Amino acid sequence: MSKTYRAAVIGCGGISHLHARQYHDFEDVELVACSDINPEAMTRYEERYGVKRHYEDYGAMLSEEPLDLVSVCTWIPLHPVISLAAAKAGVKGIICEKPMATSMTVANEMVDVCDAHGAKLAIGHQLRFDGPYIGTRQLLADGIIGDLVKIHGICEGGDLMDNGTHTVDLMRWFADDSPHEWVMGQISRGAGGTKFGIASLEDYVGYWKHENGVRAFLEGGKRSARGYHHIHLYGTEGEIELGAPGGPALRYRASSTAGHWATTSYGNDSSPVRDMIDAIEEDRDHRSSGRNGRAALEILLGIMESARQRALIELPLSVDDYPLQAMIDAGDV
Ligand SMILES: NC(=O)c1ccc[n+]([C@@H]2O[C@H](COP(=O)([O-])OP(=O)(O)OC[C@H]3O[C@@H](n4cnc5c(N)ncnc54)[C@H](O)[C@@H]3O)[C@@H](O)[C@H]2O)c1
Repeated sequence: MSKTYRAAVIGCGGISHLHARQYHDFEDVELVACSDINPEAMTRYEERYGVKRHYEDYGAMLSEEPLDLVSVCTWIPLHPVISLAAAKAGVKGIICEKPMATSMTVANEMVDVCDAHGAKLAIGHQLRFDGPYIGTRQLLADGIIGDLVKIHGICEGGDLMDNGTHTVDLMRWFADDSPHEWVMGQISRGAGGTKFGIASLEDYVGYWKHENGVRAFLEGGKRSARGYHHIHLYGTEGEIELGAPGGPALRYRASSTAGHWATTSYGNDSSPVRDMIDAIEEDRDHRSSGRNGRAALEILLGIMESARQRALIELPLSVDDYPLQAMIDAGDV
């Protein structure tokens, strides 16, 4: 008989229910416990998923429950400390919501500590499991648009750290997760307040180059062009467009379509939880690994750092603070 994975969720608010449903849906996973400082949030877990073991202190849950899988679904400032505690408690698969941290130093620590404790770390960039993006990867792998040269991503209305992280993660996936050479960018705080416990932005642009030669341009926020994760990929023999406002989720045109827009069939495959179990059993990285989450964070923070230094930033990024907060504290934005 195959193993039953014992799972728990820490932070039982909005997004956590996506995690909980995935755990609940798999026969080889048992959602055994949950933790939240708000008891009512845990009562909903009992009503919806039958989870009876409730902990207001996640540390107590990690020491008392033998757990294989844990989701970290609190606000951003708690992502690192809880993920590190879970890895040190022996949890084998940690799915931490995005963005993983607000500094590269802490993101590096999360990846290193998880590696040292044999824990697989995944970040909540779950769009890597959604059909249109998987279909795009297939078109690219099949060479339908030739060699990918340039990517333009739009994240209309979205904050950089909260929403732009998904756009950047997808753009990076399309560029084969190739490491970055440099990034430059500009930010405007505008009326930006905080989102999920960290300072947010009203507008931003970013431009970076991957080691494989692909260049990427991101625009987002209040004044950007239209579309949410509206991504355009330009190749030597055609183009792919995702999320065009009023258009299909995915369309492409290439020499093989005589230059006319065409659609392609695609479907979802796997899920963050299924891929976590496969990653543990096959001893490989998760599709939305901590390493990929850290690379997306390098672009997000690199855009801010470029604005702080008014210069192109060579990567890897070596700053160890949250550049936006440092600029706010210094009265620079
Ligand atoms: N992947 C996605 O598409 C996606 C979508 C929405 C939100 N998110 C991310 O998920 C995170 C949570 O967002 P949300 O909308 O679910 O927030 P939320 O406010 O609805 O839920 C957060 C929960 O954490 C609990 N909490 C606070 N401190 C705690 C502690 N010490 N121990 C245990 N629980 C604690 C709160 O009581 C609350 O129930 C954010 O980082 C956000 O960026 C990701």
